[in-house]
Amino acid sequence: MKPFFLALTLAAVVLTVPGCRSGKKDASDRAMENRERIIEILRATGRPGIEAVISNLDTTDFYTRGAGGHHTEVGGLAQHSLEVYRIMQVTSWFLRSDSVAITALMHDMGKIDYGGWHPWRSVKHLSEWGLKLTKQEYFTIFYHHKPKLRYFRYPLRVSLSFADVLSSAWWRLWHRAPSDASPDDTGAAGGPDPHHD
Ligand SMILES: [Fe+2]
Repeated sequence: MKPFFLALTLAAVVLTVPGCRSGKKDASDRAMENRERIIEILRATGRPGIEAVISNLDTTDFYTRGAGGHHTEVGGLAQHSLEVYRIMQVTSWFLRSDSVAITALMHDMGKIDYGGWHPWRSVKHLSEWGLKLTKQEYFTIFYHHKPKLRYFRYPLRVSLSFADVLSSAWWRLWHRAPSDASPDDTGAAGGPDPHHD
């Protein structure tokens, strides 16, 4: 099994390289391209409420802001989200494609504003905008930074955390940036802890 996981990791790294190198591209062009790609992927999920999510994203700086402790450049949040999506596509072909798309692209979306813990704000905004998450999607996003072992039983959760760490670690390596969490990531969890399964 080791060669299999090594191959997956190498594939994931190769998939994130274009994102790391895209700093040479004009930031506004990249942001526009990423916006179109993200809308295309979200729309393809066909999930009820997804059009409202797409519209609401356009009222925020989701496509132009940085991601925090990594992908700090203009458009970094959307770039990181797409890298996570590409990695999950490769490593999680056996999972529901709509769940992969929504959790990959929206897991850090709560960074568009402040107050409380960003994974909580991600699920909160999606709910307010009318997208009903499955239980697995909800816990995958909510706990993507928290070592709650009980939620590692969800393959989607494992896949997202792996892709998230790989994308951010590769960005830090590429930019020779120290491995420090963004202030937003270090705060205590805000909002209700959904221990109701
Ligand atoms: Fe996050």
